[in-house]
Amino acid sequence: MAAALELADLSVVYGGSNEALDGVSLSVPQGGFVALLGTNGAGKSTTLKAISGLLRFENGSVRRGSIRYMGQDIGAMPSYRRARLGILHVREGRCVFPTMTVEENLEAALFARGRRGPAVARRTYDEIFHYFPPLRERRQSSAGYLSGGEQQMLAIGRALFAQPELLMVDEASLGLAPKIAAEIFTILRQINEERGLSILVVEQNVALALRRADYGYVLEAGRIVEEGSAESLTNRESLSKRYLGGGESAH
Ligand SMILES: Nc1ncnc2c1ncn2[C@@H]1O[C@H](COP(=O)(O)OP(=O)(O)OP(=O)(O)O)[C@@H](O)[C@H]1O
Ligand SMILES: [Mg+2]
Repeated sequence: MAAALELADLSVVYGGSNEALDGVSLSVPQGGFVALLGTNGAGKSTTLKAISGLLRFENGSVRRGSIRYMGQDIGAMPSYRRARLGILHVREGRCVFPTMTVEENLEAALFARGRRGPAVARRTYDEIFHYFPPLRERRQSSAGYLSGGEQQMLAIGRALFAQPELLMVDEASLGLAPKIAAEIFTILRQINEERGLSILVVEQNVALALRRADYGYVLEAGRIVEEGSAESLTNRESLSKRYLGGGESAH
């Protein structure tokens, strides 16, 4: 399958400190579902921010390497133009607008695709509510009153409203009960299959992500240390000891 996204040798430095990313190469096939895994501080969010172009605003700088989307080098492109190409980033911590209603939060996404957004890129509410039924019941509620799971649904639904072609979700399951976290991943898989959009998720719950993704990369201290199909990673001993709870009884 042709690549939607290709990172080659990407390196990022924040301020004067060490490299947060040190030569990261990865790709997301068109219509693929890829997981970027790793513990705290590994560089997962930094990778997504470099892809969506947010680093320019966050005191970070891409020092080396390239970011290609659908064959085009987008490394110098500002983030709003990347969003117009369909690269949408659901940031860590969800970031819904708490005093706006669910509907208003969804509408806000249309700005992401630019002035042509409402005409070309609009998803109907029904399409969003098909994937996230709890949002239908809460459509007139302030987003700040939603549960954590519902807020995550809203954050993803909002990105979906702008009709992404590459959807990136940072820490989809963070702080959610296991059942809700599993549900979010099931829905992401469903969206990926039914809409054919490419997905790149960042996740610390390795077992959960590998149950739904096709392919995974493991990031440690800014470098990719393992990669492979979800099935092969799940069975890989090096991973099972460190991330999947295996081998702990040996102590
Ligand atoms: N704005 C910043 N300024 C300086 N250093 C930063 C900044 N953001 C991140 N870092 C550093 O870069 C490294 C990678 O951070 P990043 O947030 O990408 O990790 P992460 O894998 O997303 O971690 P987590 O699982 O905790 O979200 C860390 O060492 C972090 O301290
Ligand atoms: Mg992070």
